[in-house]
Amino acid sequence: MAGLETVLLYNFNDDKKLRSLKMIFLRMGVRMRVITPDMYLEPIGALAHIKGFTQTGTRYEGPGFSDEMLVMNGFSNARLDELLHSLRKNHVERIHLKAVVTAHNASWNSLELHGELTKEHQMMTKAPMMDAVVYQKEGVFALEKRRIPKLIDPTDAIVKVTLASICTSDLHIKHGSVPKAVPGIVVGHEMVGEIVSLGSDVHGFKPGDRVAVNVETFCGTCFFCQRGFVNNCTDPNGGWALGCRIDGGQAEYVRVPYAQNGLTKIPDQVTDEQAIFTGDILSTGYWGAKISEIKKEDVVVVLGAGPTGICAMMCAALYEPAQIIAVDIDAYRLDLVKEHHIADIAINSAKSPLEQMIMEITDGRGADVVIEAAGGKDTFTTAWKIARPNGIVTVVALYEEDQVLPLPQMYGKNLTFKTGGVDACDCGDILRLISEGKLDTTCLISHRFALKDAMKAYELFENREDHVIKVVLKP
Ligand SMILES: NC(=O)c1ccc[n+]([C@@H]2O[C@H](COP(=O)([O-])OP(=O)(O)OC[C@H]3O[C@@H](n4cnc5c(N)ncnc54)[C@H](O)[C@@H]3O)[C@@H](O)[C@H]2O)c1
Ligand SMILES: [Zn+2]
Ligand SMILES: [Zn+2]
Repeated sequence: MAGLETVLLYNFNDDKKLRSLKMIFLRMGVRMRVITPDMYLEPIGALAHIKGFTQTGTRYEGPGFSDEMLVMNGFSNARLDELLHSLRKNHVERIHLKAVVTAHNASWNSLELHGELTKEHQMMTKAPMMDAVVYQKEGVFALEKRRIPKLIDPTDAIVKVTLASICTSDLHIKHGSVPKAVPGIVVGHEMVGEIVSLGSDVHGFKPGDRVAVNVETFCGTCFFCQRGFVNNCTDPNGGWALGCRIDGGQAEYVRVPYAQNGLTKIPDQVTDEQAIFTGDILSTGYWGAKISEIKKEDVVVVLGAGPTGICAMMCAALYEPAQIIAVDIDAYRLDLVKEHHIADIAINSAKSPLEQMIMEITDGRGADVVIEAAGGKDTFTTAWKIARPNGIVTVVALYEEDQVLPLPQMYGKNLTFKTGGVDACDCGDILRLISEGKLDTTCLISHRFALKDAMKAYELFENREDHVIKVVLKP
């Protein structure tokens, strides 16, 4: 149990007192660490730090740090009495004590006996806990017990998650290729649930409402938000924050900032499984199709029949183009596309000469619109090559490497390129289309797991076992 006997001291600027504390802890055989102000200027970073230090699978997430604060973990009653006794003997009278909540928190009965301590610990010990998938550090996701989130800002809502999903971007976080992702956060950015509490500035919702949660947080008032470019919202929490920079939804509860913009009511007749992809991949497909300026006579090629590509195909179909052509190298995914009539033609580019086939289908012109949702090594090149002169190439995929735009080679082709991260602000339209039966992405759900089995789900998803497409987690 030695690992549980850990003490963190915040911002101790009184050297004399610090020395006496060091002596006390040394004698007690307790590990101690001082966290200096610059380590907690960025609060989440500091929390991650604590996490790494205590190694107990829990973390402290209380509000603001006081000047002199002691965070303790897993002290027994006797141990705590011993500590308090020693502190008194050393004339340390005013220390602000907080607990990291663990299953070993018997110590708080004892704390209450000591009048000079703040009462904050009582709240902490009563805080209910939940299961959550946490990005611990590069390469490591784990299921942890976390405190159930509370409202912080009046624009927040707390949502009880009823279904969450795993996204390819979660794997990017795990692999360390999302620089903005903060170790220690709860991951998950695609979820639906039920509102349990609302800040005073959130209007038009009530507790009990079933909602889809948007992947992007947006203020709705900045330059970009007013123009619908919510991905570039200039708010500090704007853009992709949930499950990346702040706690997300692969958990039993999630706090949603700017809830009025980030939540959309799910119509009664729409199930959680029908609505689950609204905030992320369906928004992406919807946005990708919308910016591609698809016309009725168009041949639209979608590179990549992964979940995002399939959503793009389904949303492209809303514009009723002449033909939608799905391209992938995975026969199983192409079969799914055929089986559910998602595209008119499905081409396996590993087995067939793609460029030649597209030219044949389009009388030698090339595709009017190409949506690149594969993100393969050569798929960007393929995308502009198969596009017709004056065509539109929309790049939805996120590449791990730089791509080359060989302008001399494409001179005279007069292409229009559209790129970027989704502006996910059409969830209302998407849910309406789902409720009218015009969008149905349930065929993408290949596997279902309980949240407590999330690690098994990740293993399957990451290793692409059992022809997995999308995995959902039920808290
Ligand atoms: N722009 C955005 O806001 C946004 C949002 C969500 C996802 N994305 C990106 O979209 C892409 C697709 O996401 P996904 O979740 O569907 O991923 P995925 O990996 O499941 O799907 C990619 C598909 O492309 C296929 N593919 C790979 N190489 C190919 C090649 N050379 N030719 C043809 N097909 C090939 C794969 O077999 C796979 O089916 C990813 O790059 C993802 O990061 C972007
Ligand atoms: Zn995602
Ligand atoms: Zn904004």
